[in-house]
Amino acid sequence: MSPADSPGGPPPSIGPRPSAAPAASPASTGPSPEPPPPAGYAARPLELADLEAVHRFELRLFPADAWPLEMFLAEVRHPTRRYTVVLDEAGVVVGYAGMMAVAETGDVQTIAVDPGHEGRGLGRWLMERMHRQAREAGAGTMMLEVRADNPRAAGLYESLGYARIHLRPRYYQDGVDAVIMSKDLTPEGGPRP
Ligand SMILES: CC(C)(COP(=O)(O)OP(=O)(O)OC[C@H]1O[C@@H](n2cnc3c(N)ncnc32)[C@H](O)[C@@H]1OP(=O)(O)O)[C@@H](O)C(=O)NCCC(=O)NCCS
Repeated sequence: MSPADSPGGPPPSIGPRPSAAPAASPASTGPSPEPPPPAGYAARPLELADLEAVHRFELRLFPADAWPLEMFLAEVRHPTRRYTVVLDEAGVVVGYAGMMAVAETGDVQTIAVDPGHEGRGLGRWLMERMHRQAREAGAGTMMLEVRADNPRAAGLYESLGYARIHLRPRYYQDGVDAVIMSKDLTPEGGPRP
């Protein structure tokens, strides 16, 4: 999706939440709990041991733009990134996604689902998880780029509230344009009345 050498930005905006939270005000309700992944699947943060499997998907699903393994390694280790894998009942990786959050903007770095597991809601669940992660990191906007010849992914993003804001001609190595899309994260993440 975006090149992994995108700017590192300011100090990490994502990190472990303090274990001892300051005394909450009576009005604070906190974020709503995360819905589980679709039935039959589990999810967890990507671990280094997953990288080989993820990279195999990368080569298969993004033949023109696959990230080299070293680039993926740098990505998942970067403190502003959050990567998730989805596992099937046998514990096999069948999907993954990663986001970056720097200051007020989140970016979908990548998302992919094994073709044998498409159409079961995993892509939508991964996107919504990244929206929550970006909100937690303080982002008010989520950005992504998608190949102009990928209507399926673009349709998913539009159904999640993304708008097309820009076109980058011939952005990808094979000459395909990139559509830049953006979504306002504040309606669900902003202050409640
Ligand atoms: C794009 C991608 C992540 C979607 O993952 P997914 O798990 O199939 O997504 P979902 O099952 O949540 O479906 C999301 C939407 O895709 C569309 N969709 C699902 N199955 C479809 C099919 N067989 N044909 C066309 N569209 C379909 C629907 O609009 C669906 O919306 P719905 O939830 O209202 O039904 C997945 O197709 C993929 O990995 N593609 C290859 C890699 C890629 O293109 N990544 C995105 C780079 S920007």
